[in-house]
Amino acid sequence: MMMKKKMLVDERGKKYLIDKKLERFGNDLGVVDLKGKKEGVIVKSHKGHEFYLVEPTIYDIVKKMKRTVTTLLPKDIGLIITHLGIREGETVVEAGTGSGALTIYLANAVGKTGKVITYEKRPEFAKVARKNLEIAGLVRKNQKIIGLDERDVDEDENSEEEEGLYNVIQKIGDVTKGIEEKDVDVIVLDLPDPWNVVPHAKKALNKARGRIATYVPYIEQAKKTVEALKEHGFFDIHTYECLVREIEISEKGVRPSTRMIGHTGYITVARVKPEEENEE
Ligand SMILES: C[S@@+](CC[C@H](N)C(=O)[O-])C[C@H]1O[C@@H](n2cnc3c(N)ncnc32)[C@H](O)[C@@H]1O
Repeated sequence: MMMKKKMLVDERGKKYLIDKKLERFGNDLGVVDLKGKKEGVIVKSHKGHEFYLVEPTIYDIVKKMKRTVTTLLPKDIGLIITHLGIREGETVVEAGTGSGALTIYLANAVGKTGKVITYEKRPEFAKVARKNLEIAGLVRKNQKIIGLDERDVDEDENSEEEEGLYNVIQKIGDVTKGIEEKDVDVIVLDLPDPWNVVPHAKKALNKARGRIATYVPYIEQAKKTVEALKEHGFFDIHTYECLVREIEISEKGVRPSTRMIGHTGYITVARVKPEEENEE
């Protein structure tokens, strides 16, 4: 794990993401002394309550992070990553960054040898996303956002480089106007009008393996996206909705939870058309 936080879980299952360097933590169950304690131990508060000191997962980071817009849920992110077969070493272009939830999962899927270039048209959202990406070890502290900063801000040359993937590049830009990258493996779009990005996606994608996924909340948007994909020769086009039901298992019995998320959005996946072979 390369997170910039550690996590305490109290006896009620309540989770607290805290700074790696924090030495004392307190809540209504008492104060715990964390000095010299490493993740993987149980610590007791002065009131005698147990806390688990563990490493957070990316799921924990995303759940607790600051949000500027609605983020994609793990069920939808899982479907996008698995259906597109996103793997180590690939280059992914994403838009819009929003709060960076999808970015965090994409960056972890492509790993140290891959990269995610994430476009956001609103600088104020990109700045909040940068903080979230920083906590997840995906961008350096105050890393330059292309199109917004001249260079990395607050560069502290004496600070030690902490472990991280650092494989995310943030850009300010409107992808309906164009995508600068070429030979891209995957494009993922979570924005209201993906059909306006399809012609640019076609140009940017690698013709041997280029794939695209779009996420939209309304069926009309999904239909318009599929029409644009067809018009631009994309193939293997599929649209999905992903429903998840939690199962409650207790002494009384086993049953689905009475609450569930009824709707989030429609995911469309497709592959870019290969090029015509040049006749010699
Ligand atoms: C629903 S949010 C994305 C949430 C993100 N997937 C997450 O998990 O945190 C949509 C974002 O796309 C941005 N956006 C909309 N149209 C855009 C465009 N044409 N180019 C770049 N960003 C765009 C919006 O400003 C907004 O931040």
